Amino acid sequence: MAFTLIIVGGGHMGGALAEGLIKATWCTASELCVVESSLDQRGALEVRLPGVSILSAIDPNEVDTKTGAVLCVKPDHAENAARSVGATGVTRVLSIVAGMSTARLEAVFPGPVAVIRSMPNMPVLAGKGASAIAGGSNVTSEDLNWAQSILGAVGVVVRVPERNLDVVTGLSGSMPAYLYLVIEALIEAGVHQGLSREVSRELVVATFEGSAALLSETGKSPEELRAQVTSPGGTTAAGLRVLENHAVRAAFLDAVAAAAERSRQLGR
Ligand SMILES: NC(=O)c1ccc[n+]([C@@H]2O[C@H](COP(=O)([O-])OP(=O)(O)OC[C@H]3O[C@@H](n4cnc5c(N)ncnc54)[C@H](OP(=O)(O)O)[C@@H]3O)[C@@H](O)[C@H]2O)c1
Repeated sequence: MAFTLIIVGGGHMGGALAEGLIKATWCTASELCVVESSLDQRGALEVRLPGVSILSAIDPNEVDTKTGAVLCVKPDHAENAARSVGATGVTRVLSIVAGMSTARLEAVFPGPVAVIRSMPNMPVLAGKGASAIAGGSNVTSEDLNWAQSILGAVGVVVRVPERNLDVVTGLSGSMPAYLYLVIEALIEAGVHQGLSREVSRELVVATFEGSAALLSETGKSPEELRAQVTSPGGTTAAGLRVLENHAVRAAFLDAVAAAAERSRQLGR
């Protein structure tokens, strides 16, 4: 029987994607295959993903016209991995490889292949990622729906033109690191003011989660929610004034611009 989907690279992202797809009943375990070059990692995947075929290479006999593939390897390994996928006759490929254009991947395949490029982010590991997808030159709306349904198993998916993927990389791709820096600094601030590290961490992490929940549950804008907690002349207003004096807003604008520019450089 041919596989419905082959995930090439069963590391952090590939493993999380496989788990998310089965949880979301996108496919059954027996319809899924993970191709992974590391022996140790294959052992770990066999325990984590019972019923899924964990292989060291793709067998062309287990591929038919409906089989799709997801490239989840590091950029240095992507062309090799794509070459072995192409040799099996797979005609639909979703790539999560950072900085590799659809044109570059299309050039690796021996025939026309529908290539969809995406930029997911780290919360995919918790099934709460944010991904953007863009189609290459041979892609139909059916191919984009297919890619969206795959990444939709591990979070939200938006569609953008491929040229916007560098901006997505600098925004949602890098954003977990920006937020962890903010969280780290706030925990430290609580400690500086006399709280124990444990208490400060618990307060900061719970407030972060609660604030995110309010954004999605109320549908209110961040400006509205911020105004709601900022009484005129009050404590929060005093704190926000210091952040504005330190140009925190401008720092985020510059950070996203710098990360997007770096993504453009790496993709050249
Ligand atoms: N992690 C993130 O937050 C994130 C976010 C957005 C996009 N991405 C992109 O996602 C991709 C995967 O990242 P990751 O963090 O999941 O990497 P990872 O943990 O290193 O996983 C990649 C796995 O693929 C294996 N591999 C390498 N070449 C292979 C081949 N030809 N066939 C089969 N398996 C192969 C690697 O084995 P070896 O270790 O033996 O090489 C490794 O176990 C990267 O291109 C990255 O740019 C990651």
